[in-house]
Parts: sequence; structure tokens; C-alpha cells
Amino acid sequence: MTPVHLDLRGKRVLVVGAGPVGLRRARALAESGADVHGVALAAPAGAPGTWQQRPFAPSDVQGAWLVVAATGTGDEEVAAACAARQVWCVRSDDHERSDAWMPAVTRSGDVTVSVTAGGDPRRAVALRDAVALQLDAGVLPVRRVRPGVGSVALVGGGPGAPDLLTVRGRRLLAEADVVVTDRLAPRLELSAETIEVAKTPGATSWDQRDIEALLIARARAGQRVVRLKGGDVHVFARGMEEVQACLSAGVDVEVVPGLSSALAVPALAGVPVTARGVTQSFTVVSAHVAPDDPRSSVDWAALAALGGTLVLLMGVGRLSAVCGALVAHGRAPGTPVAVIQDGSLPTECTVVSTLVDAPRDAAGLRNPSVIVIGEVVAVRAAPTVAPAHARR
Ligand SMILES: C[S@@+](CC[C@H](N)C(=O)[O-])C[C@H]1O[C@@H](n2cnc3c(N)ncnc32)[C@H](O)[C@@H]1O
Repeated sequence: MTPVHLDLRGKRVLVVGAGPVGLRRARALAESGADVHGVALAAPAGAPGTWQQRPFAPSDVQGAWLVVAATGTGDEEVAAACAARQVWCVRSDDHERSDAWMPAVTRSGDVTVSVTAGGDPRRAVALRDAVALQLDAGVLPVRRVRPGVGSVALVGGGPGAPDLLTVRGRRLLAEADVVVTDRLAPRLELSAETIEVAKTPGATSWDQRDIEALLIARARAGQRVVRLKGGDVHVFARGMEEVQACLSAGVDVEVVPGLSSALAVPALAGVPVTARGVTQSFTVVSAHVAPDDPRSSVDWAALAALGGTLVLLMGVGRLSAVCGALVAHGRAPGTPVAVIQDGSLPTECTVVSTLVDAPRDAAGLRNPSVIVIGEVVAVRAAPTVAPAHARR
């Protein structure tokens, strides 16, 4: 057997028979861009392409690059018509007598893996699924060897635990030549070159424009660049500036959303940001400057009046000022507050308090922390099964 991958885009293929096998194959062929034509005795429901409801005629094979015979009653006549015209024919009735086989296929980015397994389709599917799982896990060596066109992918890494990264993010990391990563992005064992571009207050810090220049320079050098960020790429993460810089430079760029700490960290700590009968809204706010700071553009009076759940990021250093402002603007002093530090990491810890007591109770907590304010904190339920990050 000689495995060959065919580019059937725009090419005529014929499917004979519209039973489950014929339909499945017609769909697979249509997905790869083939010009699907079909002949079947029964009207095919939901089949892609152009179908005729009538018996097969040998002349149907004329002009087809590939024929799939799936008559359900023996494919001999179709196979003979193909052989007479030197057209490849995939028989569904008899693997041994077929000239061509459709393998079990998995795709991951620009990688295609196809499997045949001694005429045993279920065995091929099982093997294909095992490979697909490994591709999804990003553990196979899929990094490009031949130079190609460079690109940038902004990947949201989730709150920090490596297993909260998306499958797409993992795949892109496995394909990456270089990973440009933030301080709060998940710590991963990567074989690619890794460049930390932390913006830690007080420490050596990367300027945003320099980060953008780095992404563009590496992509222009033909590298696949992953810009790995904590949480989601567009939640207080300056992702749009990087997207726009790439677009202006003519560099291909894609965005892979991530689990924002604004939602994931409370959830992992057992706090739902909404709960039926408790609150109908949640608001995510950056508290990187205090309410009385002239740079603050947040309307704290409106937030206090809004009720619902408030989720504050970058606010742990301003907890006292924020709680004070909310109480001053009318939010009940006994409103429950949860401060969750290092969500999803082995060092995760949560302090539950109220608006008046939180500044004292959570005084020992530091960044990164998510602050949740609202009645939902009172319905907090500690998970009965220890989450993965707590089991490690
Ligand atoms: C610059 S913002 C970036 C937010 C991020 N893009 C996201 O969607 O989660 C950083 C803030 O996110 C929050 N944060 C991120 N990871 C966290 C974690 N593992 N535990 C608690 N808070 C976290 C903290 O409030 C931190 O100060």
C-alpha cells in the first residue's frame, strides 16, 4: 500500500450510495473542498453536493478523480467501471478488493495524520484518537523545521494552573518557535525559546512598545511567535495594542481567548459570580488606582448603587480605599467580601470577610488576588472534590 494525500479541492468526486457510510464519506470529501456528486437509489437527506436519485450507470464515473462506492449491496459494478477508466475507487464492501482506502484522519493546525490499520477501521479510529489526544496535549514534536511565514498568536493562558490552558493554546505553544510570556502566565515546561517580558512594578520592566517590536521582529524573521498572557488576552492585558501593532506591520496575528482570572479564580474558590435569586449582574473592575486618585475613571458611586457582584482585579493594595468608597456611597457595610490570592495555584488562599472588616482581615494578602464583593460570597461552597491545583 502506498499512502498518498490528495488535494481534492474543486475536483469532481463521485459517491455511489447514500447510506450512513456514503453520507459520512460525502461529508468528509466536501469538508476537504471536493466537488461532490452522488448517485443513490434513495433520496439522501442532508448530503452535501449534487445528487441524482437513480441507479448507478458506469458512465457516471467519467470525469471523476475519485469514486467512493458505498452501495450497501456490493460495489463490484462501480469498481469495475472505475477500473475500466483508471479511476481510483474506494470500495466499502470489501477492504481486500479495494484499490484505495479512506483513512481515519485527525488534523491539528497544518498537521494532518491519517491512519489505516490492516483493514480494521475501528482499530484505525482508536489509534487516530490516541494521536489526536497527544496533539491536543501539545506533547508531540510539531514545531516547524522548514522555514515558513512568521506569525503571532496571542494566547490567553488562564489563571495560572497549566491544565486550565485551552487546547488551542497548547497546540500553538507546541508549534511555537518562541514564546513571549508574562509574569502571571502559566509556568510551563517548553522546548521553545522563552522570553519573559514581565511588567513587575519596581523590577526591571519591559515597555509595551518594546514587547510589540519584539513580536514583530521575530515574526518577520519567519518565526511562529506565541505571546502568552495570564487570564484572557483582552482583560486588562493590552492585547489589542499588540494585535494592532502586528496588523500595522503586516504580520499575521490570531487571538486565542483564555479563562480570565475574573471568572476562573472565584469559581475555583467556590464563589459563583452570579447565582439565581441572589444577583443578576456582575461587574469586573480594574482597581489599579484608588477611587480618589485623579487617574481613576471608575464611577464608584454608581457601582455602589448598582448592587450585584463586583469583581476587582489589581486591587489588593487598594482594598481599604475601595471598601471605604463603596460604604461611603451606600453599599451595606456587612456586604460579604472574598479576597482570593494565587487562584488555581498550589499557594491559593481565600479570606472571607465584609466591607468593613476586609481591610483588616485580608491585610496579609498580596498580588495576584481577585476581590469579590457581593452576596454571592455568602453562598460560597467549598468544592467537595479537591481541585487539581490543591491535590498537587
Ligand atoms: C494585569 S491583570 C491581567 C488579568 C488577566 N488578563 C485575566 O484575564 O485574568 C492582573 C490581575 O489579574 C488578577 N489575577 C491574575 N491571575 C490571578 C490568580 N492566579 N489569582 C488571583 N488573581 C489573579 C489579579 O487581580 C492581578 O492583579
